[in-house]
Amino acid sequence: MQHDSKSAGAAVEPATMHGLPRVDLALRHQSGFGNEFATEALPGALPQHQNSPQRPPYGLYAEQLSGTAFTAPRHLNRRTWLYRIRPAAQHLPFTLLAHGGLPDGPFGAAPTAPDRLRWSPPDYPANDRATDFIDGLTAMAGNGSCDAQRGLAIYMYVANRSMQDRFFYDADGELLIVPQEGGLVLRTELGVLALKPGEIAVLPRGVRCQVALEGDRARGYVCENYGAALRLPELGPIGANGLANPRDFLAPVAAFEDREGAFTLVAKFGGRLWSAPIGHSPLDVVAWHGNYTPYKYDLAHFNVINSVSFDHPDPSIFTVLTAPSESPGVANLDFVIFPPRWMVAQHTFRPPWFHRNIMSEFMGLVEGVYDARAEGFMPGGASLHNCMSGHGPDAQTFARASSAELTPVRLEATLAFMFESRYVMHPTPQAMASPQRQQDYAQCWQGLEKHFTGLP
Ligand SMILES: [Fe+2]
Repeated sequence: MQHDSKSAGAAVEPATMHGLPRVDLALRHQSGFGNEFATEALPGALPQHQNSPQRPPYGLYAEQLSGTAFTAPRHLNRRTWLYRIRPAAQHLPFTLLAHGGLPDGPFGAAPTAPDRLRWSPPDYPANDRATDFIDGLTAMAGNGSCDAQRGLAIYMYVANRSMQDRFFYDADGELLIVPQEGGLVLRTELGVLALKPGEIAVLPRGVRCQVALEGDRARGYVCENYGAALRLPELGPIGANGLANPRDFLAPVAAFEDREGAFTLVAKFGGRLWSAPIGHSPLDVVAWHGNYTPYKYDLAHFNVINSVSFDHPDPSIFTVLTAPSESPGVANLDFVIFPPRWMVAQHTFRPPWFHRNIMSEFMGLVEGVYDARAEGFMPGGASLHNCMSGHGPDAQTFARASSAELTPVRLEATLAFMFESRYVMHPTPQAMASPQRQQDYAQCWQGLEKHFTGLP
């Protein structure tokens, strides 16, 4: 994966979109997962053969952004060198920023019941209530500790405005963004990524960005991974290819703006949001090289591997990205999808089976119907099945699938996903008090009939 590409980026155009500088949505990208990229928005802006010249081209400042410890093994080491108009150090002190969507204390401060939980999709804010991507975040569940760099937090977002005059970075973790309705434009220090439902993006820890909406509103899910960075899963006996292929991951090319004003820099740090005045846009990186970058991936490119004989494989076969914990094969976070696919297994109960899992599972639905649920799990909704909590098909699905004719069936227009973690996920007070929480979720299994025949 040492494909080394150098490409010219683009300065952001001055016209406006939702009050923001317009970006060219016919964006160019650099392809590959974790590659060593090189890109410049002005010719000759990227220093050659060294990182920190005495005087970088165009009067730029050189700055290293380290996503792993300096001493991390080479194959895991992630860092990028930025050549920017002003260094990231140039802003004033932070003050705490109140936010009703974040829990006040650590995850699990109140007792967490082992109940199965499910939520209907969140409502959009009224049009006269300006809500940008940050305003619209609601923490749903989490575990571990951002300070200890272990665990994760899961959010849902609703937004009806682009971020105006403020910029954001997350020191607590990388952000895996899963849009469900409405496109997003991630204007990052390293360039611009446009994102639509069916695609995902990962914003690395610390990378500054501004989130714009492509349309009038947007809704989706975010997983904040406190642990080691997401990576591609091992393929084992599958071989050298399959699942998410590295070349389908896209990083941006350099794009910068030279803009001054009374802006705000919002930081997520230590589980809280903080706000600092900044007199310029931090999206002022003219050139960069390195392997610590935002990236996007179209889930339609996922090479689905499934049973062609009998039985439903473990859903780990649908893993797109994984963030390991210290225990081999046990993830801090797995991102798993259930995309359109053929179902052909014979003499098999085809939907996901009943099970209990040491891993904890938070599910979302981008579109369509999930094959283990007849109703109640809606696009934009969510469910949480914690460690060892029994779950599986609801009564209607069990009845249907137990008697279905097992001809080949194509599941179309469906995209469910799962954030799965070795650590128990504690629902937040906001998630427990949400009017979208379905208090009757456990009822979906109460209709399962006793079929036991006993001895003949
Ligand atoms: Fe499950």
